[in-house]
Amino acid sequence: MTRKKIIAANWKMNNMTAETAAFFGAIGDSCKGLNDREVIVTPSFPYLAQAAALAKGRGITIAAQDFHPEENGAFTGEVSLAMLTDLGVRTVLIGHSERRHVMGETHEHIRKKVAFAQKKGFRVIFCIGETLAQRQKGELFAVIDHQLSTAFDGNLTCPPDDMVIAYEPVWAIGTGVNATGAQAQEMHDYIRHFMDKQYGRKDIVILYGGSVKPDNVKELMLMPDIDGALVGGASLKAESFSKLIFWDK
Ligand code: PGA
Repeated sequence: MTRKKIIAANWKMNNMTAETAAFFGAIGDSCKGLNDREVIVTPSFPYLAQAAALAKGRGITIAAQDFHPEENGAFTGEVSLAMLTDLGVRTVLIGHSERRHVMGETHEHIRKKVAFAQKKGFRVIFCIGETLAQRQKGELFAVIDHQLSTAFDGNLTCPPDDMVIAYEPVWAIGTGVNATGAQAQEMHDYIRHFMDKQYGRKDIVILYGGSVKPDNVKELMLMPDIDGALVGGASLKAESFSKLIFWDK
């Protein structure tokens, strides 16, 4: 089975009205009709509706960076999946390292989010990755096993067909130091085997994230188990993001 290729922008807490308009203006119709790869843009909440309107008919999927795993109610500052559905958004990030390490999201909360998104029929881009200290202590594979199994075991015995995993080593995010193609490939191969053994999901789409840039994208994308990229810094402007979308052109 050919795995789908995905190039996803994670804008984090960047890009406001003017930058969002400029980005979509510059991307124009360049992604329209692309069928060998999917392009995703993940703006912050206040700009989701603007981005969704600008992306319409242009072959770009809009996704959300976060949500709260309850239907509705007294959750000040939070955004529900029903609200995202209302805006036409059906894809969410879960487990990003900034949510885990900066906002303090626990494995239990992440697990709840995975279950809730699954129940509501959302496509999840599930992010995992080790810190530098964990890598240096040789805990790399144990950390990945734990992040995957706490999210899925007894929760999703079989992650849905459209679930995407993003391997993002924490030490590579926003640092300018990317994992080499070989380092990323080693982990992607490991994750693929893990998902196959535990859940029968050998064909899961696995993205790499962490300082992907126009000058390193090719080395990463040529690796056999890397199916695309989740990109922060280099996705903020259309000029560099286009080079990542069309890395092989
Ligand atoms: P970066 O971020 O490309 O700026 O390293 C990647 C991410 O956090 O998804």
